[in-house]
Amino acid sequence: METALTTLILPAGEAAVREAARLLARGGLVAFPTETVYGLGADATNAAAIARLYQAKGRPAFNPLISHVGDLEAAGRIGRFNETAALLAQAFWPGPLTLVLPKAAGCAVVDLATAGLETIAIRVPAHPAASAILRAFGGPVVAPSANLSGHVSPTSAAHVRSDLEGLIDLIVDDGAVEVGVESTIVGCFEHPALLRPGGVPREAIERVLGQALVQLPKDAESDCGQPLAPGMLTSHYAPRTRVRLNASTVAPGEALLAFGHPAKGADRAACVMNLSARGDLNEAAANLFGYLRALDARQAAAIAVMPIPNEGLGEAINDRLRRAAAGREDLGRQ
Ligand code: TXA
Ligand code: MG
Repeated sequence: METALTTLILPAGEAAVREAARLLARGGLVAFPTETVYGLGADATNAAAIARLYQAKGRPAFNPLISHVGDLEAAGRIGRFNETAALLAQAFWPGPLTLVLPKAAGCAVVDLATAGLETIAIRVPAHPAASAILRAFGGPVVAPSANLSGHVSPTSAAHVRSDLEGLIDLIVDDGAVEVGVESTIVGCFEHPALLRPGGVPREAIERVLGQALVQLPKDAESDCGQPLAPGMLTSHYAPRTRVRLNASTVAPGEALLAFGHPAKGADRAACVMNLSARGDLNEAAANLFGYLRALDARQAAAIAVMPIPNEGLGEAINDRLRRAAAGREDLGRQ
């Protein structure tokens, strides 16, 4: 049995940053806010710390982690930038974009963090607390979303507590995050590929590159037979309650996750939460995971989700909703 730890919870600020850097240097696990979702950080060069991180999250070790660094210079020490990567870093860092690149020679990130791949995923987050922690620590920090593997990603320190209290050393609390969905992941391959839609809309990336991003099949492999998109497991962001997509009406006993004007039958729903009454996709992204958690707690017959336009952050929202519904989508009409 794992012995329960005392998880320290500190408000974001100088003391929290110092304590976070101290704990990371000792192989500790530190949850901290980023602009996308809360991350669970560990020293990317410390295999024992990363083994603890995989264990705390219950994450399959074949799913690699993102290395977070404070700036482009630090990123250049662990990844090899080609022209695509340089353009995107220049346009979107710091920010909700992760680049997948070949590992740099002498990259200090351990193989356990990259699941033995020859590539590495790198991100420079734009949140002041995250930047301060990365600066104070001074090395790369792996940080998956700070939830139990398979659960909905955390957009507040309270979400992190409910999943990981007693399993990690520190939670740095800075309230609700701004973006609400994880970073967009772009593979900077010969043909730049969208590996995960996220906080930077596809359209903005394509504008900077002057070309369309390719979509890799889930089982795409490199020349050496390694997976190129290892994170595309179908069921991932899973509430316990069944999720029904594209709902135009609500059945009695169902909870409704609305977007815009609520669907027919909303008045008899067990509970209604509106991602954005005014139909704003950025607002909807920021509310998505918190509302999914809240509706899941109502133990309704199902969570009926209204259609979301597939543009801007809508692509990331629909990706997360499809995964939330994977394997249990009810195709019957309601
Ligand atoms: O916004 C975010 O990216 C958040 C915050 C905390 O920064 N982090 C996050 O990490 O979402 P995580 O571990 O939940 O998702 C990392 C994704 C996984 O789907 C993984 O498969 C993919 O990144 N990934 C990591 N390294 C990769 C690589 N070398 N090639 C392709 N995909 C990779
Ligand atoms: Mg995650």
